[in-house]
Amino acid sequence: MNIIFLGPPGAGKGTQAQKICAALNIPQISTGDILRRAMKDGTETGLKAKSYIEAGKLVPDEVIIDIVKERLAMDDCRNGYILDGFPRTVPQAEALDTIAKIDHVIELAVDDQVLVERLSGRRVCVKCGATYHLSMLGGKTNCAVCGEELIQRKDDSAETVLARLEVYHAQTAPLIGYYEKKGLLQRIDGAQGMDNTYAAILNALGVQA
Ligand code: AP5
Ligand code: MG
Repeated sequence: MNIIFLGPPGAGKGTQAQKICAALNIPQISTGDILRRAMKDGTETGLKAKSYIEAGKLVPDEVIIDIVKERLAMDDCRNGYILDGFPRTVPQAEALDTIAKIDHVIELAVDDQVLVERLSGRRVCVKCGATYHLSMLGGKTNCAVCGEELIQRKDDSAETVLARLEVYHAQTAPLIGYYEKKGLLQRIDGAQGMDNTYAAILNALGVQA
């Protein structure tokens, strides 16, 4: 099953993609994670992406399309995948149409106000990428999975979060109509608890919990 997770920053794409990928035994392809790794490793792509990410803007389509083409050609994508954070513009969606057949587009819908609160409290593990919210950590500062230190993403600062939301509404939200027209879009309320959201996604995919 080839699946797209669409939704604004903080909607829970990463949180849910990790769980659904584990349940279906398919890879999670997060373009945000790929770019952050490239930045950490100081690669050419990472250097190109840094200023865009830190300003809350999208990196240029041609950069990201090449990354995704290369990733989808890998062996582990043969039985399906979840695209988490791609496509994010109409040209990206059109490029994807030329290389993949998408089965489901899951839109996670959450109000902006809730998103700002979620992102300002998000903490992520620098090593394994596990995601938490301050409200669930009870003062702990290390990852429950691997023990590594938890950090706040640089682009989760209040100012950058607002810029990312603006970019979402202007450049990514048009994809809702794009996939609706193709009959692929399923909208899920992402403001319910994590377990209810998970169950709703499995149901939309036609998978037994
Ligand atoms: P990316 O890393 O993809 O960021 P994003 O889309 O802004 O989304 P986030 O990762 O911030 O949110 P999420 O939906 O994954 O939420 P999460 O599960 O963590 O991209 C970063 C940057 O890279 C972009 O700004 C851009 O510059 C660049 N980029 C990436 N892809 C690109 C592309 N295709 N084209 C161009 N540029 C690209 O959850 C958030 C918080 O909420 C957590 O604390 C979590 O614990 C909590 N939470 C989750 N679900 C729930 C729930 N149901 N109830 C309560 N809390 C919840
Ligand atoms: Mg994410």
